[in-house]
Amino acid sequence: MKRVALITGGGSGIGAAAARRFAARGMRLVLVDRDEERGTAVADELGSRFVAADVGSLADNERAVRVAVAEFGRLDVVLLNAGVPGRCGLADFTELSYRDTMRTNVDGVVYGLCACLPQLRRQGGGSVVVTASLAGITGSPDLFYATSKHALIGLVRSAAPQLAADGVRINALCPGLVDTPIIAGYRSSLEKAGLRIADPAEAATAVETILADGVSGGVWVVQAGRPASLLPVPEVVPAGW
Ligand SMILES: NC(=O)c1ccc[n+]([C@@H]2O[C@H](COP(=O)([O-])OP(=O)(O)OC[C@H]3O[C@@H](n4cnc5c(N)ncnc54)[C@H](O)[C@@H]3O)[C@@H](O)[C@H]2O)c1
Repeated sequence: MKRVALITGGGSGIGAAAARRFAARGMRLVLVDRDEERGTAVADELGSRFVAADVGSLADNERAVRVAVAEFGRLDVVLLNAGVPGRCGLADFTELSYRDTMRTNVDGVVYGLCACLPQLRRQGGGSVVVTASLAGITGSPDLFYATSKHALIGLVRSAAPQLAADGVRINALCPGLVDTPIIAGYRSSLEKAGLRIADPAEAATAVETILADGVSGGVWVVQAGRPASLLPVPEVVPAGW
């Protein structure tokens, strides 16, 4: 039986690289993106199904899962990967810009998770990978982006034990810099600063590493030229225990 994956943000960058890798492994794919042109192009290249959707809408996420199940009968892997940079900071804060970042980066992942869970539970399990970021561990000058990505790590670590009984694993992928359109605006300054930028294929390899590992609740760092590594969980014993 061929495994089935749903990938949000599958029309570009890391999502498209993961899609190409999954397709090469013979998996069936549903690609979800709000960019119809790019999403359709990648789906056509891979013979996959494309769903035009905004991950910031719960109904859109539910529709994408329905399409996957109607088309392929099951769902094994869900890569909740669509994301945007911060639209404002503290100095130029507007409610609208702030909400725009949180809507895609946080709501989009929470809705994606809630939309796929009933199907994964029905099947007796599955694997969810959430694309967070190194900025979700270290902080970043793009502080609301970092805020949104920290939230995802909290979600993954907190959801993992609750989903274990259902056989659902959930892990966070935390890439450093990856060569995708999201960094295009400042790519040359990053290079001038001597920072190494990973190829999206390296992020796809990290996703495969996560899927092959039995861990849940893991936070996986992936940087240029290095294999994905599992971040140790800080040992903090609650007071009184
Ligand atoms: N490129 C990097 O350096 C880097 C580093 C760390 C984390 N990330 C994260 O990786 C993920 C993928 O980003 P990427 O680098 O491939 O960028 P990208 O811009 O190439 O891809 C992001 C995709 O998400 C889609 N998208 C954005 N908002 C959406 C929405 N509301 N609904 C549906 N689709 C939406 C975009 O249309 C695009 O196709 C993001 O979550 C990003 O934050 C990227």
